[in-house]
Amino acid sequence: MKIDTILQGDCIKKMAQMPSYSIDMIFADPPYFMQTSGCLNRGDGTRFLGVDESWDKFKDMQEYDTFCKNWLSQCQRLLKPNGTIWVIGSMQNIYRLGYLMQEMGFWILNEVIWTKPNAPPNFTGTRFQNRHETLLWCSPKKGSPYTFNYKTLKALNGDKQASSVWDIPICLGPERLKGADGKKLHATQKPEKLLYQIILTSTKPEDLILDPFMGSGTTGAVAKKLGRHYLGIEREAKYVKAAQKRIQSVSCQMDDFAQLTFDQKPPKILFTHLLKKGYVKVGQYLYTPQHKKARILESGQLKCGAKIGSIHQLAAQLQNKSAANGWFFWHILTQNGYQPIDILRRKI
Ligand SMILES: C[S@@+](CC[C@H](N)C(=O)[O-])C[C@H]1O[C@@H](n2cnc3c(N)ncnc32)[C@H](O)[C@@H]1O
Repeated sequence: MKIDTILQGDCIKKMAQMPSYSIDMIFADPPYFMQTSGCLNRGDGTRFLGVDESWDKFKDMQEYDTFCKNWLSQCQRLLKPNGTIWVIGSMQNIYRLGYLMQEMGFWILNEVIWTKPNAPPNFTGTRFQNRHETLLWCSPKKGSPYTFNYKTLKALNGDKQASSVWDIPICLGPERLKGADGKKLHATQKPEKLLYQIILTSTKPEDLILDPFMGSGTTGAVAKKLGRHYLGIEREAKYVKAAQKRIQSVSCQMDDFAQLTFDQKPPKILFTHLLKKGYVKVGQYLYTPQHKKARILESGQLKCGAKIGSIHQLAAQLQNKSAANGWFFWHILTQNGYQPIDILRRKI
């Protein structure tokens, strides 16, 4: 199976040709079946371009449900036993998708609410402004193991446990692909930040991500940036072409988040090892989170005022605790500011 590519065609047919248990994660942003008709104008009379595309048309609910059952069952077959699927939808389709998925044996791990601070208003003032979409994160069956990069997401969230409400602006400005007429190329291009959060949550570097409704290529672009592989399927040739061009122009940027550094088990290393290898020196200062200094002694112990002890003992003493983890308490001063000495042992 060729990866890091976009296949043009119907996703049900294309997925049927792929081997079972070959995919680590799926992101599916299917047609919503909006059932809209007519034009919608803004307050100033200009036309609002919502979703009124041929790919979003179905005869009735029954046809839509059959379509969804078919692509979902292919996804369930393709997922590795420890893989997961994210399905995104609006009020028009998310309840049908959730019902079908539960009927098929998928197990919902989380429902995530994507709130949009810059969503368009309800132009007619006849209902609430629609300011969110819903994502269902599921494993193929109850009890399957799955990847959840808890610590990476916590670090990304300012060291607070990440929640199921994500506030992310809709895609505007230079990120939004434009057609030759200067108008948005794709009606439902998702913001890269949404895919960034999804991919960091549930994949590891080198994992293979499938997007059966690739559209403008958001999933492929973010997967490539984060050092993951992708496989996209898209029916419309013009979107395939635009997505290929978009993905070609991005490069991989493997920072601590992409590498999931925060979720990796810390290596078993003694502080004296850092000293022997020259990562720290005798006489050098380490700093507490409040920037109080301690000097490194020849023995590998630290001295702070009259107190002497190992990195852990002194960290505990200074915090009036019975025990503490010195790797995160003590900091070195770098070009990027104060950093915990944990980064030094990870370098070794
Ligand atoms: C909601 S959009 C996905 C947008 C995408 N997530 C992005 O960020 O650009 C759905 C896409 O699925 C495509 N599509 C609809 N039915 C399809 C099918 N049966 N097989 C493959 N693609 C399909 C449409 O052409 C459309 O581009």
